[in-house]
Amino acid sequence: MLDLILRGCTLPDGRRDIDIGIESGRIVALQPALQAQSAHTLDAGGQLVSPPFVDAHFHMDSTLSYGLPRVNESGTLLEGIALWGELKPQLTQDAIVERALAYCDWAVAKGLLAIRSHVDVCDPRLLAVEALLHVRERVKPYLELQLVAFPQDGVLRSPGAKEHLKRALDMGVDVVGGIPHFERTAGEGAESVKWLCELAAERGLRVDMHCDESDDPQSRHIETLAFHAQRLGLQGRVAGSHLTSMHSMDNYYVSKLLPLIREAGVAAIANPLINITLQGRHDSYPRRRGMTRVPELLAAGVEVAFGHDCVMDPWYGLGSADMLEVAHMGLHVAQMTGQAAMRRCFEAVTSAPARILGLQGYGLEAGARADLVLLQARDPVEAIRLRATRLMVVKAGQVVARTPAATAVLNLPGRRPNEEISFQR
Ligand code: FE2
Repeated sequence: MLDLILRGCTLPDGRRDIDIGIESGRIVALQPALQAQSAHTLDAGGQLVSPPFVDAHFHMDSTLSYGLPRVNESGTLLEGIALWGELKPQLTQDAIVERALAYCDWAVAKGLLAIRSHVDVCDPRLLAVEALLHVRERVKPYLELQLVAFPQDGVLRSPGAKEHLKRALDMGVDVVGGIPHFERTAGEGAESVKWLCELAAERGLRVDMHCDESDDPQSRHIETLAFHAQRLGLQGRVAGSHLTSMHSMDNYYVSKLLPLIREAGVAAIANPLINITLQGRHDSYPRRRGMTRVPELLAAGVEVAFGHDCVMDPWYGLGSADMLEVAHMGLHVAQMTGQAAMRRCFEAVTSAPARILGLQGYGLEAGARADLVLLQARDPVEAIRLRATRLMVVKAGQVVARTPAATAVLNLPGRRPNEEISFQR
């Protein structure tokens, strides 16, 4: 006797009329016309069932703080960093916890069940670290939160940051972060990458650095990151986040860089909503888009994910934990409008970040965790087009969120009254 059968599912790979059998929080069967008894049965009605959304890059210590203590008027990255510096002394642990938990509620409702969040370690009190470690435990039953020790003000530039970062790792933060382009010089940036990668290798941890979040084509820390990832045998465990300077680099140099990133097994995390908002701010016209070279990285065999980065914080006043909105923006900015390319954008917010985070038991197959999202869409492309409603979110076999289908009711001349339509085709 199974706990639950979800019948009539369409899967992201195009398989239709699939029944998913769930027992003890795991998928035990995934096939057409499943013959089995179950305590509960739900009908997917031919709609898309996906593994949960995964956000590879977020800042949960600053989320939902928009307007505190003031709004970022220029909209630039640097004013955002300065504003965060103003807010930091006023932060309380309770306020960070309250906002993070509120965000996790939004995430669950949107089928976003795993988030890698950077947490600022340039505060000797490590207030945000303590708060988010607490949140990680609180949300564990329904959301996997992975934390990155992120020296926002530069691990070499900010006094004491090396020690604070090590202390955060000792406290249980999962991943080593960095921000080489914010160090005082390119040389110090490179030195920070070396020190941080060696620390990660020593401790057996993953690495995820804010890397080259700049329009300066000379910002080439990704080259150093790839070099040390390979030298230290960290292949498959290192990610470069943002990499926006690649947008502006010389094509010849990029033709050397892409295979280097691939050889080093370094993943790339673009943050489309934020990159398109913050980059190109020093340009007049033509104004650069600023997102890294996503199609070219994919073609070179590099793992690429899209992250949300910010929601209602000093850098970005919008967002709602909707990874389909992120994929939608990524698709547009990268001009990935072909059918296969659009599907890759869906993977960039599901399976690709799951691999980058090293999530265990993720996916739609027998033996995987029964974590699923039922979308009001027939396929991944329609899901992106509609930023589809999450009709149902299942965590370990339990329904944890529901949202009513998005429909509109029309009253038009010559038509029947109260005609209900959806935007699906
Ligand atoms: Fe970030």
